[in-house]
Amino acid sequence: MAIRKIVERGDPILEKKCRLVTDFNTRLHTLLDDMAETLEESGGIGLAAPQVGILRRVCIVEDSEGEIIELINPEIIFEEGEQTGLEGCLSIPGRFGIVTRPYTVRVRAQDRFGDEFEIEDEDLTARCLCHEIEHLDGHLYTEHCDHLLTDEEVEQYIKDHPEQFEEDE
Ligand code: NI
Repeated sequence: MAIRKIVERGDPILEKKCRLVTDFNTRLHTLLDDMAETLEESGGIGLAAPQVGILRRVCIVEDSEGEIIELINPEIIFEEGEQTGLEGCLSIPGRFGIVTRPYTVRVRAQDRFGDEFEIEDEDLTARCLCHEIEHLDGHLYTEHCDHLLTDEEVEQYIKDHPEQFEEDE
């Protein structure tokens, strides 16, 4: 496994539409393993292939149990409810915006061997699924917020919404 360099906002690769994965080969498996290692090192909870310079429909999301979900060719097939909260992106380090997302999403995807599966999740994991899947169509969360917060605004937001920042055991 290897840590890959994360592409930052401003690089046109983050604005491109990714291609479907059709070969579930060792090259894909290496990409997924490298993305997991890169994500772990970065301290984030989700990473999409274009963020490491690969224009394929691949992303990974860490769920509330700390498990990495690998999603190939993912599609959101159901969404319900609403949540509003702070959102960041490894390609926009140190910055946050306030973004509204569905509270629950159901996603259909393929695993690293090409087998189709569905998952449903909520809250932060649902937010992360929406965020990562959007990356595959060249979209960033900044499209959903009017501005990126200043450090003072982030501090104030955390102070005003302590319930959103409770640590899960
Ligand atoms: Ni991102």
